[in-house]
Amino acid sequence: MQELEEKLPSVLANFGIYGSLGAQYKGPLVTQVEFELCKGSKFATVEKLMKDIARELGVSGIRATEIPNSTYICFELPNLTPQSVPFLALTEQAEFTDSTYDLPICIGVNMRGIPVMKNLAKMPHLLVAGTTGSGKSVGLNSFILSLIKKKTPQELKFVLIDPKRIEFSMYNNQAYMLRPVITEMSTASACLAELVVEMNARYAKFEKSIARNISEYNAKNTIKLPYIVCVIDEFADLMLFDKTVEKQVQILAQKARAAGIHLLIATQRPSVDIITGSVKANLPTRLSYKVASATDSMTILNTTGAENLLGRGDSLLLEENGTLTRVLGAYVSDDDIMQTLEPYRCEIKEPQPTNVVVVNGDNNNVTVQQTIKQEQKKPTIWARIADWWNRIGRRRQNQIINWLLTLIFAAFQAKNASQKARSTTATVRKITSTTKKTTSRR
Ligand SMILES: Nc1ncnc2c1ncn2[C@@H]1O[C@H](COP(=O)(O)OP(=O)(O)O)[C@@H](O)[C@H]1O
Ligand SMILES: [Mg+2]
Repeated sequence: MQELEEKLPSVLANFGIYGSLGAQYKGPLVTQVEFELCKGSKFATVEKLMKDIARELGVSGIRATEIPNSTYICFELPNLTPQSVPFLALTEQAEFTDSTYDLPICIGVNMRGIPVMKNLAKMPHLLVAGTTGSGKSVGLNSFILSLIKKKTPQELKFVLIDPKRIEFSMYNNQAYMLRPVITEMSTASACLAELVVEMNARYAKFEKSIARNISEYNAKNTIKLPYIVCVIDEFADLMLFDKTVEKQVQILAQKARAAGIHLLIATQRPSVDIITGSVKANLPTRLSYKVASATDSMTILNTTGAENLLGRGDSLLLEENGTLTRVLGAYVSDDDIMQTLEPYRCEIKEPQPTNVVVVNGDNNNVTVQQTIKQEQKKPTIWARIADWWNRIGRRRQNQIINWLLTLIFAAFQAKNASQKARSTTATVRKITSTTKKTTSRR
């Protein structure tokens, strides 16, 4: 690593960038090197040359940023031996223990190793993106555990939606759960509808108590309302299965903040068909782990850069006010989850039947419980096929389509060939019979 920092000025000079080195900070993932450019040099030129500079240094994932209110710029050079940040150790630090936020979540540590704490109640929702294996699920688990460590089951409830079925199974028998983890995609939409209904019911209660939001209501009433955090891992899977969830997510993202209902949504495909304009506009706080392309980075962060991250929890946090911070996510192991959840274990409870009414597409008013039951009863064979089709990915879908087309084409060719053969045989027979007739007449 020492070498990289030493090499940097000469490599920059090779590209015609001159200046003087400033302070250096070694963090768990990268070393930050401050650099003051010569008067008249442009930062944009450095930014453009970053790929070439990285190549010449022989490493990938170098980043250059401007330091606000400073004449220096900052190069982030990856450490040869990156360290991960254990979640439980982080929760013992003063930044975490002293935090007095309504819904404190620990995003991770900044590049100097200082914990980054944010208030989910202010965010008010968080959209998380990143390719498979970039650290989304580990991140979501660390956010959930941060909240569990600071809030009691009476103050906070979770709705966990997990189309992959494996990420949240450990949370099933928890006092924190509003209902068991939702793994069936057909139930997810009804459950989001239930949250919309709960939101409206809460606003009606606020109106009666003359309160503007959940904290004002809880301050005035003895029966307190819990915050509800709805976590969706792999939103793309859900959207491909059922487009109606977009509408419900949009309503919740737009209006649920004051009612104390917050969303944490993760997606591996930050393409525009999944993160549509309306969803994006209502989720201003976004966290991007490593993404596949600069286009994906643009979609999620409105700027490039997330494609050059180092993976394994390395992320960029875009806040509501537009500031971009690089954060290394805390690492949560299964043991950490078990250990944190142990005191709150309880019997698995079936969700209480709520008699709230939703209006479905056919203008028939039904309770949410009925909707969920109806959806569960529906024959699932087509749903399962559609589910499988969505899961196999575009490459395999194309392969299967190509294979089917080849099969159909081959079948057509075979049919044509047999028809031709038949017509040739018929012609040969005709000619032979005509020849026979002519010969016999003679
Ligand atoms: N913050 C982190 N620190 C260290 N390793 C991490 C971190 N986040 C993720 N990883 C590693 O990456 C792997 C994949 O992470 P995961 O959250 O399952 O990815 P995703 O959900 O994005 O597909 C984990 O099993 C772990 O080994
Ligand atoms: Mg995952």
